Amino acid sequence: MMIESIPITVEVNGTIQRLKVMPHHSLAVVIREQLGLLGTKISCGEGECGACTVILDGKAVNSCMVLAVEADGCSVLTIEGLAKNGELHPIQTAFIEEGAVQCGFCTPGMVMSTKALLDENPEPEEEQIREALAGNLCRCTGYHRIINAVHAAARKSSVHSGETK
Ligand code: FES
Ligand code: FES
Repeated sequence: MMIESIPITVEVNGTIQRLKVMPHHSLAVVIREQLGLLGTKISCGEGECGACTVILDGKAVNSCMVLAVEADGCSVLTIEGLAKNGELHPIQTAFIEEGAVQCGFCTPGMVMSTKALLDENPEPEEEQIREALAGNLCRCTGYHRIINAVHAAARKSSVHSGETK
């Protein structure tokens, strides 16, 4: 029996997308394979590593654990939606400046979790940063530089208030 695709409408990085998705496909698969947005990584595919983190209706989620059909009518922000007019987002520059990027595989997910955190809490304590990033695994950096980068991003955002949006 043929599995039928299902129509969904989803706003991705500010653009309305009308898509036909397979009912068993995750949002991560659709973002990468149908929309060609390869910044969102798939590693474990089981909700364990955070490489696939995107912001879904304002909340950081593991997009490998969300069915694409569940995102119907929602708004999705991926790493590609952060830079504006060719300029990296302050969170992205903070990660680079603090040396928080090594192989870079975890970075899009880390940055998206950071964005969701700072949108909700612009001046997080270290514990709150650790908690927000607890689902994002990095095998390279030892996390110290990542935590520093989040602090630096928070400082940048308080200087240029509103720019993390
Ligand atoms: S690929 Fe989604 S959590 Fe690991
Ligand atoms: S920089 Fe390599 S996994 Fe985090």
